[in-house]
Amino acid sequence: MRRCKIQYYPSFIWLILSLIWLVTIVTSTNGEYLIGVGSYDMTGPAAGVNMMGYADIEQTTAGVHFRLRARTFIVAESSQGSRFAFVNLDSGMASQLVTIKVLEKLQSRYGSLYTEENVAISGIHTHAGPGGYLQYVVYSVTSFGFVQQSFDSIVNAIEQSLVQAHENLKPGSVFINKGDVANAGINRSPSAYLLNPEEERAQYQNNVDTLMTILKFVDSASGKSLGGFSWFATHGTSMSKNNRLISGDNKGAAARFFEDWFASTSTSPPANPSTSPDIGELIKKAQTIKATGGKLCGKTTSQGFKVRKNDGSLFVGAFCQSNVGDVTPNVLGAFCSDTGKPCDFNHSSCNGDNQICLGRGPGYPDEILSTKIIGERQFQKAVDLFMSATEQLTGKINYRHVYLNFTNIEVELDENNVVQTCPAALGPGFAAGTTDGPGFPGFQQGDKQISERWIKLRDALKKPSQFQVDCQQPKPVLLDTGEMFDPYAWAPAILPIQILRLGKLIILSVPGEFTTMAGRRLREAVKETLISSGSDEFDNETHVVIAGLSNTYSQYVATFEEYMQQRYESSSTLYGPHTLSAYLQEFKKLAKAMATGQTVPKGPPPPDLSSVQLRPELGPFGDSPPPGLNFGDMKDDINLPKTGFFKKGERPSATFWSASPSYDLLTEGTFAVVEMLQGERWTPVYDDDDFSLYFKYQLDESGLYSLAKIEWEIPDGATSGAYRLRHFGSARKTKDSQIIYFTGASSAFAVS
Ligand SMILES: *[C@@H]1O[C@H](CO)[C@@H](O)[C@H](O)[C@H]1NC(C)=O
Ligand SMILES: *[C@@H]1O[C@H](CO)[C@@H](O)[C@H](O)[C@H]1NC(C)=O
Ligand SMILES: *[C@@H]1O[C@H](CO)[C@@H](O)[C@H](O)[C@H]1NC(C)=O
Repeated sequence: MRRCKIQYYPSFIWLILSLIWLVTIVTSTNGEYLIGVGSYDMTGPAAGVNMMGYADIEQTTAGVHFRLRARTFIVAESSQGSRFAFVNLDSGMASQLVTIKVLEKLQSRYGSLYTEENVAISGIHTHAGPGGYLQYVVYSVTSFGFVQQSFDSIVNAIEQSLVQAHENLKPGSVFINKGDVANAGINRSPSAYLLNPEEERAQYQNNVDTLMTILKFVDSASGKSLGGFSWFATHGTSMSKNNRLISGDNKGAAARFFEDWFASTSTSPPANPSTSPDIGELIKKAQTIKATGGKLCGKTTSQGFKVRKNDGSLFVGAFCQSNVGDVTPNVLGAFCSDTGKPCDFNHSSCNGDNQICLGRGPGYPDEILSTKIIGERQFQKAVDLFMSATEQLTGKINYRHVYLNFTNIEVELDENNVVQTCPAALGPGFAAGTTDGPGFPGFQQGDKQISERWIKLRDALKKPSQFQVDCQQPKPVLLDTGEMFDPYAWAPAILPIQILRLGKLIILSVPGEFTTMAGRRLREAVKETLISSGSDEFDNETHVVIAGLSNTYSQYVATFEEYMQQRYESSSTLYGPHTLSAYLQEFKKLAKAMATGQTVPKGPPPPDLSSVQLRPELGPFGDSPPPGLNFGDMKDDINLPKTGFFKKGERPSATFWSASPSYDLLTEGTFAVVEMLQGERWTPVYDDDDFSLYFKYQLDESGLYSLAKIEWEIPDGATSGAYRLRHFGSARKTKDSQIIYFTGASSAFAVS
């Protein structure tokens, strides 16, 4: 290069000048990056579909508490420059098949702009969403196979939210902030945590991570905030397995509160009427307005009544999952339901019974209240951090991704010590379930033996190889999922791991639920590797977050020490005692490659098992109203209190003759609306995305006809006035006839 010095001197000057010019351009628009956010409804089938999470056959959807959404942000260095997309999904977890189909759709839209390498899809871990969207047998047993409708609504929502984010890309800045969330999670396997080395535990104040990390996106041109995405670890199990209403659990609730909070700060409050309406007048007025009979309407009518319209100018707030493995939101602890005493410490059972040891949320025994409280604790902290965020992220956008076959990864613990992972397997501690949702009777967390009866049953399904039995020690193999391929693979073998970099922020996409200590080790290992690999772009101030349940799902990852106890989390650590060590080794390789600018091999692609899925015929097969009635007619009208009006906290409800909500999912629409009389017009003020409004679906006593019950818990913020409840639905008379849409409204009632 020396000999070219003179020749290159002028162009070097030119380069400097153009750099200065470029910097001026960039700083004059004041945006470090291009930023886009998007959000789309993914609620899915609200009747008769098994919920994903508790693996309980009886827990099927029967209505909506509030809607599920896919929320996305995209950051790019420039319009053609390096970028990534992060999708936060109100689902139990990511699914390999969902990821595969989403990537196919993105490829046909955008070519190679968005690929497996730079798209992360992370589930919030609600246990109250429709299931059947995962491709491995273990995850679709209780839904009796694959549920196309669940799958399609998730894939579509991810695609739509990503398209929105892409089309919204504009110059902007990203700020980061961190802080502790108080009392939104406790360790549900503290006895396992205690097995981690004392000197390691001594580095941390708690046996769960309390830190929340938030990103704040700001539009440079207008200075307007575009969104906030936070990461914090706590299970989506505030709602128990007795719940049948679709819900985003505490994280979905936090997102709803956060977005509504932002909307309320950026719109001026409605002018307060100088005189509050006279209650006598209101009652009189309400009495004159009777229920309207059900009538047919257009397909998009319910969208028109939606209170929050998805018009592309939205603010997106997301609460993402992290190293959630052993963290429960049921922060009061676990108690025996017979004696009320705390459960056995090591086994979480009551005299050996796993069925009656149950965690309690802060709203116990009201799990909706628990969901609200745990949601609010995350939401409040997110608002604090959002408002006070000052550290701006600058620097490169980058990513690394690799597929690994976890069946037999050789792990070099040190020079003389090479161990390996095993084919996937589940132990008896998995069958026992947790204090958030007990599993099969007859099992306990921490079991290291299996009864003869279960061994016989297991062997009838698949007798594990001797290699597998030895490899999984001390986990006794109850289900040899990694060696079962009938009718198709029971467990994943190929897993993606991914690192995303946004300046000083590193996001680690992990395909499962890391326990608290497993997550800490991973973050530390990656950070240390980045810092020590010679690049001066990383230092102690580099932020590392884990994005849990991302891109595919492979259950839990516990530490080697925790694995020795075989509680639920380690019994569900699929690939044996060295599963975490394999992750550490492979993530360090990715981190090093990123820090030194190397590429990494792609690894073996995961299989696409869509063509071999078993697809149950779930219906619905046709609906009609009872003879002489119309869809949308009232069954039970508002039941007025003696006073003639409702007060805040009370729950007016109305029941309509309806049809299954699964004909048309009314995506981005609503099944239920609270309307308020303003002048002579009815205005929608709450819809089925509101925490205060419940849409409940069931069959009537004859089992022939569908009922939709709309229940409104009048919130503190409601203003005095005349209200009514309104229902929207769709139906087919027979399986193949055309979909019709209908609506109906209750009588009016006064609220004071
Ligand atoms: C839990 O198990 C450990 C290890 O076996 C034992 O030392 C401890 O006493 C047990 N704790 C209780 C409360 O049973
Ligand atoms: C993973 O590796 C195992 C062991 O080499 C092999 O038998 C299996 O076919 C691989 N799985 C996939 C999906 O490639
Ligand atoms: C980074 O943190 C470690 C541990 O806290 C400390 O030993 C080291 O000196 C720090 N390095 C810098 C550059 O601040």
